[in-house]
Amino acid sequence: MITFVNLKELKPGMVLAEHVYLKNNLLLAGGSVIKPNYINRLQKCGIDQFAVYDKVLEQQYILSNPVEKFYAKKYSTLAKIFSNLNNEEELDIGPIYKVIETILATVLKNQDDLLLLTGYSSTADIYLYAHSLDVCIYSLITAKAMKLSTEEYLLLGMGALLHDIGKFKVPDHILSKKESLTIDEFSEIKKHSAYGFYMLKRISQMNPTVSRIVLEHHERCDGSGYPKHLRNKEIHKLSKIIAIADIYDALTSDRVFKKKILPHEAAEYLLSISKSQLDSEITKIFLKNIAIYPKGCQVLLNTNEVAIVLDSNPKMPLRPRLKILTNNKGNFLQHPREFDMSSVLNVFITHVFS
Ligand SMILES: [Fe+2]
Repeated sequence: MITFVNLKELKPGMVLAEHVYLKNNLLLAGGSVIKPNYINRLQKCGIDQFAVYDKVLEQQYILSNPVEKFYAKKYSTLAKIFSNLNNEEELDIGPIYKVIETILATVLKNQDDLLLLTGYSSTADIYLYAHSLDVCIYSLITAKAMKLSTEEYLLLGMGALLHDIGKFKVPDHILSKKESLTIDEFSEIKKHSAYGFYMLKRISQMNPTVSRIVLEHHERCDGSGYPKHLRNKEIHKLSKIIAIADIYDALTSDRVFKKKILPHEAAEYLLSISKSQLDSEITKIFLKNIAIYPKGCQVLLNTNEVAIVLDSNPKMPLRPRLKILTNNKGNFLQHPREFDMSSVLNVFITHVFS
């Protein structure tokens, strides 16, 4: 049965019976389980009436799943590492290898688990950690498809986790500025790859290839990148992988100054610059292996129905096989039905839920 509650009565574990909109933008989908952080978000939006099912889910369904917990743990490890590096304290690179090895083990076992978590954690305070982990996950998945060596996996993972470390040297007010940057501010941001290079260079245990990757992650094959305007063959293969993962993650994550775009739009953008700025072969491998809509990901269709991805379709990655969970008003279907998007071409994904 459906009941209506106000914000004060809304409790974690309740399940929304209808979509919640804010100024015509979908905020939460019908079928979403209310989590404590959703209530905080809704408080800020001033919405005060919600249709919910009367069944409240048990605590274990509200809490993060084990993969999310694993991910959260990595944030704190990275925060410690980044702060040590920034304060020029002696750095033990052992914990960084541990993070990489755990991600690598999951990538080799079931990469869909990790893909479900990328692109989601984007509050300003943890953006750098979330982005670094996402880039590491995407890079290692690409490396696996490229059949790189174990040594290359480790160098790539390390370079990916530390690629933006130099941003600690860029003033906060520039990094978090919502308006467009001035020319001077933009050139300050562009220094972060060189700042990162020098931060890593002073660490004796650090492999010089890692510092090189950090320096080169904004170089582009046509010479339009920075800081050295290197061209195709001058850029390390591992730096090229990170460049692609970095662009993709930046486009598909919310930032203080821009909204994220949909995974397929980011894929189209990467393809559009793959022949000039990026390594086109690596871009193809990246897009083939990063499930645009990974298994388990919840999406909204142009029919206003909510669905969950059952399987990706390697031949048509933008048209996965789905299970439709709600009708167009957000009400749960008693019998969710399977739907293959490759068979009905006028149905498309308009939103990915995080
Ligand atoms: Fe960067």
